[in-house]
Amino acid sequence: MVRNIVILTGAGISAESGLGTFRDADGLWSRYPLEDVATPEGFARDPVLVHEFYNARRENAAQAVPNDAHKALARLQADWPGRVSIVTQNVDGLHEAAGARDLIHMHGELARALCARCGHRWDAPERMAKDDPCPACGAAATRPDVVWFGEMPYRMETILSLIDDADIFAAIGTSGNVYPAAGFVQEALGAGAHTVELNLEPSAVVSAFDETRFGPATQIVPDWVAELLQRRAE
Ligand code: APR
Repeated sequence: MVRNIVILTGAGISAESGLGTFRDADGLWSRYPLEDVATPEGFARDPVLVHEFYNARRENAAQAVPNDAHKALARLQADWPGRVSIVTQNVDGLHEAAGARDLIHMHGELARALCARCGHRWDAPERMAKDDPCPACGAAATRPDVVWFGEMPYRMETILSLIDDADIFAAIGTSGNVYPAAGFVQEALGAGAHTVELNLEPSAVVSAFDETRFGPATQIVPDWVAELLQRRAE
């Protein structure tokens, strides 16, 4: 029986590419109050600060390269006989850069811009500013196409139906602090999937997983993928 795999990734998979995580010791939320830079209210209060925050992250992400964990997942997608869907909370483009195809950015993308007035989306310029006109309606209402706290993550229906069909659900590099992503493992258990957590340390939802593997993603993810591909014939 060919098995489908759903993989949730978080900031930890991009940590070894030099992109900061959010809740580690020197994480982004220890340097910027998330209320100011990752909420609609923060953007309404100070759009200049928020654009600067995302401009800096966009520049950082543009210089980063995919690491062996991103590459291993792209290899799994290419060589696994069933469907391998990646659902990432990350807004960087490192999964795509590693060759991943079946990919959902549930929290949006640094590389995309959104018009708060008409909903138009386009490829973000390197630096965005609060008075940039929307290419479609001309309004000076442009924002990063990133999902902020209090906003609905993208493509939730598709994600939940992928998880319902999953035989294996893996969570990689995520602390399990933010819902709905942190609840996906429960969905997967309900669907009868085998669940595995691959992380530097136990996440807040580690007890929900059938299997856990701890260590840096660039070590444990390629090993996990190699074992899966070894066993694919079973
Ligand atoms: N290899 C594997 N895991 C790692 C590594 C590494 N090299 N470095 C850090 N980690 C793990 C940490 O142990 C932690 O559990 O990655 C996780 C990162 O957790 P967070 O910083 O909370 O990031 P994430 O879970 O992706 O945050 C979810 O919160 O702020 C919002 O929208 C933002 O998408 C983000 C969401």
